[in-house]
Amino acid sequence: MSISELAEKAKIARTKIQKDASTASQVDNAQLHDDLEDIPSNHSGNRPFESVLNTMISRRKVTMGGLALAASGFFAPAATAGSSLRDRASIRISERFLVNFEPVKIADVINTTMPTISSDYEYEVLIPWGTPIEPGATQAYNGDPNTRPTAEQASKQIGIGHDGMWFFPIDLNSDRRYGRTPSSTEGMLCINHEFGRNTHVLGKSAPESLEDVRVSQNAHGVSVVKIKKTAFSGWQVDASPNSRRITVNTPVAYSGPAANSPLLQNPNGNIALGTVNNCGSGKTPWGTYLTCEENFNLYFGANDTFTPTEEQARYGFSEFGAGYGWYAFDKRFDLTDPDYVNEQNRFGWIVEIDPFDATQKPTKRTALGRFKHEAIAIAESGNGRIAAYMGDDQRFDYCYKYVSTNAWQDDIDNGESPLDDGKLYVARFNDNGTGEWLELTIDNPLLADRFDTQAELLIYARVAADILGATPMDRPEWTTIGKNGEVFWTLTNNSQRTVPNAANPVAPNSDGHIIRTTDSGDHLGTSFTWDIYMFASDTRGTEGVFTDPDLAYADEQGRLFIGTDGGQPDGLQDQLIVIDTNKDVVEPKRLLVGVNSDEITGFTMTPDRRTAFVNMQHPGNGDPTRTNFPATPDGRTIPRDCTLVIRRKNGGIIGS
Ligand code: FEO
Ligand code: CA
Ligand code: CA
Ligand code: CA
Repeated sequence: MSISELAEKAKIARTKIQKDASTASQVDNAQLHDDLEDIPSNHSGNRPFESVLNTMISRRKVTMGGLALAASGFFAPAATAGSSLRDRASIRISERFLVNFEPVKIADVINTTMPTISSDYEYEVLIPWGTPIEPGATQAYNGDPNTRPTAEQASKQIGIGHDGMWFFPIDLNSDRRYGRTPSSTEGMLCINHEFGRNTHVLGKSAPESLEDVRVSQNAHGVSVVKIKKTAFSGWQVDASPNSRRITVNTPVAYSGPAANSPLLQNPNGNIALGTVNNCGSGKTPWGTYLTCEENFNLYFGANDTFTPTEEQARYGFSEFGAGYGWYAFDKRFDLTDPDYVNEQNRFGWIVEIDPFDATQKPTKRTALGRFKHEAIAIAESGNGRIAAYMGDDQRFDYCYKYVSTNAWQDDIDNGESPLDDGKLYVARFNDNGTGEWLELTIDNPLLADRFDTQAELLIYARVAADILGATPMDRPEWTTIGKNGEVFWTLTNNSQRTVPNAANPVAPNSDGHIIRTTDSGDHLGTSFTWDIYMFASDTRGTEGVFTDPDLAYADEQGRLFIGTDGGQPDGLQDQLIVIDTNKDVVEPKRLLVGVNSDEITGFTMTPDRRTAFVNMQHPGNGDPTRTNFPATPDGRTIPRDCTLVIRRKNGGIIGS
């Protein structure tokens, strides 16, 4: 799609929102967001596809309750882990208890104004949008359609758009030092507030003042909030000097190769502020939170005539953004304001946050490249160096890996960051089940021809990846490290794919798939093997049906938790699915089904794995006629994004 078509689409969408301001129910806000975020901006023509018949596709059986769907139309050479006799014996034992809960059946999901959870589980609601992050510090927002939070109130409340998160046990660092068991009842929860549409947050389609923009901005961002399990009232917010809101107006720092680049400075010398559209997340081995800036382009727009540069087009900047309208009142987001020409380059990074020290600025780690960061999963190699696996969520965009130069503990001991000194790679998937990690370095003459410095290359990492011939994927979302060191990559869908490649063999790909890679060299290598772990379309017609895999979380025993984002078949809403990856067959079991028009995303557990936190994003798309969750149905209360705290009724491990 050309940029003018993109702008036209955004304009139509914006008009559509404005028209429907009084009746938010007319517009599927999340669908609109999805449409805008997924317009491909990759026109590099990278097509390493030769022939689907030569591909390395493992089309595993998908079963549920004895019902099996046979592989259809593809060869299945399946080079999978765990084939020795001893491995097989351990698989047989583990299979008996790994994923044993009573799944939510399709027929169980009747009224989706409230969530449906497995009969073996129970949930409670924590920190809905508008909860004060310090008890009593400000008034809570309870979903009253007639009173919305002010900007001042919103700055002290949990935001909206609950997405990636991580639980940090309260004394994590000292417990580690002294070998104590970390807390499973008290800790800091770092949580992303990816987005909230104006109709949901403001109750109108477009901001009418800077105050409106500040309300919207403060509803976005990240919360660091202390939570504690109490004897009689379950999990509650607890007071802490380290609880804080981080928004697009919070001072931030840059580190790594691009930190001092002129491309991150503006003519008026404004200080670096903020983070936005924080989607998925990750955590470091040294106890910090990583938040990922995804669709940052949607908040920028143009008050004057705007013709995007090649780089701006590649990152999807357009005249109207996605209708947030911030640029109309806040010049930082006006692409045509000469004072702020590089403000746009300040977003699209992975940002490190110390959950235990509110005095530390969130730090953007430029060595990890600038793209639409979905999420990050870090693996430790045997020698202590780390590898970070990251997806760039846009149709036809890429899979990336970062490898640290030093062992992480050495860097931390020296007061340096393992995320500042390392190599960034992008993936090329070959047809034969192998792949290459292509280094994004200015030492490559192909890239030195295009960029002046490594800093510039990292700021325009997508352009560099195009030049190297990376494989265009079907929207890389979350990554997670399996128990054997394999990496699972969710590829959520790609309705616009017409030309398949080996790793993305379905065209169009409406249901998505999951790829599994195994790195050469203990995560430090420049090559890998891969297979397709599953096609979501293979679950159709079974009890375990799901589509649009997005959130991914693997536990140490081989359970794979998948959260979905997209219209689900058979009357289902977005879901949390559990798969036992020790098995040769994929047997998806449904743990949770959300409410109308929501998304299930974000997943973290306490160290004892007896409590999990999972997010319900944009319930009802903010429309009180669809659901009032977490309020009980009344047809009036504005539904609020929230965290569900999940427990197995028998106290068992989550997912069992
Ligand atoms: Fe924010 Fe790609 O999901
Ligand atoms: Ca996602
Ligand atoms: Ca998705
Ligand atoms: Ca989403």
